[in-house]
Amino acid sequence: MPKAVYAGSFDPITNGHLDIVRRAAAIFDEVVVAVLQNTSKDKALFTAAERVDMIREALKDTPGSVSVDKFSGLLVDYCDRIGATVVVRGLRAVSDFEYEFQMALMNRHMNSRVETFFMTASETYFYTASRLVKEVASLGGDVSTLVPRIVNIRLSEKFARTPRP
Ligand code: PNS
Repeated sequence: MPKAVYAGSFDPITNGHLDIVRRAAAIFDEVVVAVLQNTSKDKALFTAAERVDMIREALKDTPGSVSVDKFSGLLVDYCDRIGATVVVRGLRAVSDFEYEFQMALMNRHMNSRVETFFMTASETYFYTASRLVKEVASLGGDVSTLVPRIVNIRLSEKFARTPRP
């Protein structure tokens, strides 16, 4: 099986993302979790280095060939640079579909060697999104079942609260 890239902002990584990484690692020979640096969409809560550290910690016991890296510029160019031919994306609700479909088609328009591989999110994490996790944590809500332990701790530090539970 080819080398796959699971790219994203991961600000921060959630259990929904981890579920996709683990399932992708069972399918592909090699999975690279690629963290987008300098996200222009919004101001990131965590630096790219912090996001990479949290992902490495969260994935340390994951079987299979999984590595973590940072990238900037076009995703398809990054894929070419590291010899990956598949981009893995997780799909949650229908609302994800239009954005994902546009991105997949644009990536294929730019580089037809790179194929997008969609995986459905597990029903357990259907509603989990980094944006919501940050909002809930910032308001003192409990996100401990939605994110890896290390992320729960780092969110608590950012928002100066005691981690729950
Ligand atoms: O988890 P996200 O934030 O939805 O991930 C989006 C990501 C990082 C995959 C996308 O923004 C991306 O690939 N950015 C790199 C720049 C690029 O290639 N843009 C063209 C996409 S069609």
